[in-house]
Amino acid sequence: MNYQTILTSVEDAVLTITINRPDKLNALNQMVLTELALVIDDFIAHPVLRSAIITGSGEKAFIAGADISEFSGLDAATGTGLAQKGQQLFARIENAPKPVIAAVNGFALGGGCELAMACHFRIASENAKFGQPEVNLGLLPGYGGTQRLTRLIGKGRALELLLAGTMIDAVTAFNYGLVNRVVPQAGLLAEARSVLTVINTKAPLAVAACIEAANLTDAPGKTGYEKEAESFGQLIATDDAREGIAAFMEKRKAEFRGS
Ligand code: COA
Repeated sequence: MNYQTILTSVEDAVLTITINRPDKLNALNQMVLTELALVIDDFIAHPVLRSAIITGSGEKAFIAGADISEFSGLDAATGTGLAQKGQQLFARIENAPKPVIAAVNGFALGGGCELAMACHFRIASENAKFGQPEVNLGLLPGYGGTQRLTRLIGKGRALELLLAGTMIDAVTAFNYGLVNRVVPQAGLLAEARSVLTVINTKAPLAVAACIEAANLTDAPGKTGYEKEAESFGQLIATDDAREGIAAFMEKRKAEFRGS
């Protein structure tokens, strides 16, 4: 399928999703949100694709935020509606049963930082910069940033970024635990693919269950521990777990089938 604001490519069951508005530093306008939702739904439903990378076009920006030029016509109701649209899409990414990781290749500001945080984890290039500068516009992050940033880096550090609207560089983001590793820009996508190639050899149902349980850490109601125990029991009865355990005992490589 062809999109106006997004490029996609597939290599070894890994889908690369590139937000493609480099002249606007890949700012998330309504069209990007709509098209990204379609791409993510296709990815989740696709029988062959196992994992995805989200990145930005060009060498300067991952995503420099929501498209500020679309903000001026908003009122209280449409503003809430826009934030809810973004939150729903980012929750869909966070709850995807297959890994989605962010390859952050430059500015990840505002909605760009929020999108990166909705991914299951993040790898950054050395020139990456992170921030939630909405306060500079008299706003706050609307796509889950106040929640996910606080969870990922702790309340004190999160509130400093949220309140001062300042940016941090890739090394600081690594020290804060916001990104898993920092690599030269030229090797960023290769690094992301290499991590996913390893994950893609694992049992798909176990991968999905890990994501679901980890996401429940912060959810109300049934606790992550309860869900973890329930999923462990479900997984232990699957063919893939039987195969994985047998392969370990027989000192051979497991062949997982997704059942
Ligand atoms: N929304 C809309 N357009 C954006 C944008 C955004 N979030 N971020 C950048 N752009 C546009 C700029 O308006 C400019 O367009 P133009 O060439 O038509 O004027 C183009 O992208 C390049 O950006 P520019 O500001 O010229 O690049 P820079 O290198 O001088 O600065 C940034 C880079 C990221 C520091 C700066 O663009 C910026 O502060 N962007 C906004 C970040 C932000 O507040 N995000 C949160 C939004 S809620």
